[in-house]
Amino acid sequence: MGWSSWNLVGCAVNETLIREIADSLVSSGLAELGYIHVNIDDCWQSARDPSTGLIIADPQTFPSGIPALADYVHSLGLRLGIYSSAGSKTCEGRPGSLGHEEIDARTYAAWGVDYLKYDNCYEEGLSDWRGTAARYAAMGAALAGVDRPITYSICNWGFANPWEFGPAVGAASWRTTSDICDSFTGSWCSVTAILDLSADLFRFAGPTRGFNDLDMLEVGNAGLSGPEARAHFSAWAALKSPLILGNDLRSMSRNVRDLLANAAVVAVNQDPLGVPASRVRRTPKGIDVFAGPLADGDVVLLLLNRAEVAQRSVPVPLADFGADPKTARPMAVVNLWAGYDLDGESSEARAVGTDLVVPHIAGHGVAMYRISPHPNQPFGPVFAPPTGTYPVGEWWYWPVMFVRWYKTRTEEELRSIGVQVVTASVALVIAISSGFRALRWTTPASGKRAPLK
Ligand code: GLA
Repeated sequence: MGWSSWNLVGCAVNETLIREIADSLVSSGLAELGYIHVNIDDCWQSARDPSTGLIIADPQTFPSGIPALADYVHSLGLRLGIYSSAGSKTCEGRPGSLGHEEIDARTYAAWGVDYLKYDNCYEEGLSDWRGTAARYAAMGAALAGVDRPITYSICNWGFANPWEFGPAVGAASWRTTSDICDSFTGSWCSVTAILDLSADLFRFAGPTRGFNDLDMLEVGNAGLSGPEARAHFSAWAALKSPLILGNDLRSMSRNVRDLLANAAVVAVNQDPLGVPASRVRRTPKGIDVFAGPLADGDVVLLLLNRAEVAQRSVPVPLADFGADPKTARPMAVVNLWAGYDLDGESSEARAVGTDLVVPHIAGHGVAMYRISPHPNQPFGPVFAPPTGTYPVGEWWYWPVMFVRWYKTRTEEELRSIGVQVVTASVALVIAISSGFRALRWTTPASGKRAPLK
């Protein structure tokens, strides 16, 4: 949990901003809730020393140097994050770390850095899964070899299935998609697009492996309405994505601050069991139902309304979150957004018959509950897996999923399911003309993804 500079200022990052944000994390009370990382994203580097190979912080924008900044951030009880790329350059063209992993890891450790976001630009042709895993393993090994714990956050946009190789290279988290933008729906970078691309990856995450990173939050930025921001935050929390803020903490409104400070939602995100919620149902009217287990035996239930209009009296079968409808009541149902302005409507859910009925969910909004089982009737194992096949969803991201998947398969695998090996785009055309609409993504119990059937 913490903050990163990218969504707010892009390349225009400097040490004054980082200090002010660190101050704001403390003064807003967010640090106390666990938002303790202050992450400098791309553009802090200016060059590499030609004789020593040492990376140099931009003297214009970081005149005091990174060690002084680390000291300041640490003096507030926070942790400092930094950024590089597993390539010859960063995405903004600054020097990358490919081939300089050890010297960079040693430098970060000597400077007092606590967290590294490691991007995927200028990968020098090493983009298949072997090359990708090797590039990320090199930095993982370098970080493991220094005498300072540095959290390793992989950012290769979900290419080459980082949820598969991430744990082996020492990553604490891996980005599941390309970059987020501040829109709720309607584009490949929207909140719902990223959610769809990440929803069935829950089985790959957990405290002993690492976490799916759905990218930095857009809460508090202009493109999201109040309900949309709440839905975005709730979904990222329930799916156990790192909560890295991307708004201007120095000038955020009271509403935004209070939303980010919802301790009950943060507790779901930080729950020690660490199991991401999975999507257990999609209703025809556009409600996505997510459920997931929590360490104390409770479950978190999240209903995200993808429709623009509010929905009322939404029934969720008790079995969706593991309750046996015949025996599992009564139970406590705590509304995690109680007391927040939900268009003046209450969202206190009630068990009715074999359903839990949710009275109101705003358009593009969310309802989120923590549900406790009857002491003698623990919940059953429902979180599993949407076994069998899984619908792809809206048409415009099929190509994204297809190309992502295609790029990570061997020729042999592709041939075995009848996809001709040419290039991703030619294969996509072939797939569409042979009825791609009918293709579905499968996540069998083995955990190995086999999306095409
Ligand atoms: C990539 C990453 C972003 C950001 C930029 C910086 O696009 O995915 O999160 O770090 O690079 O250039």
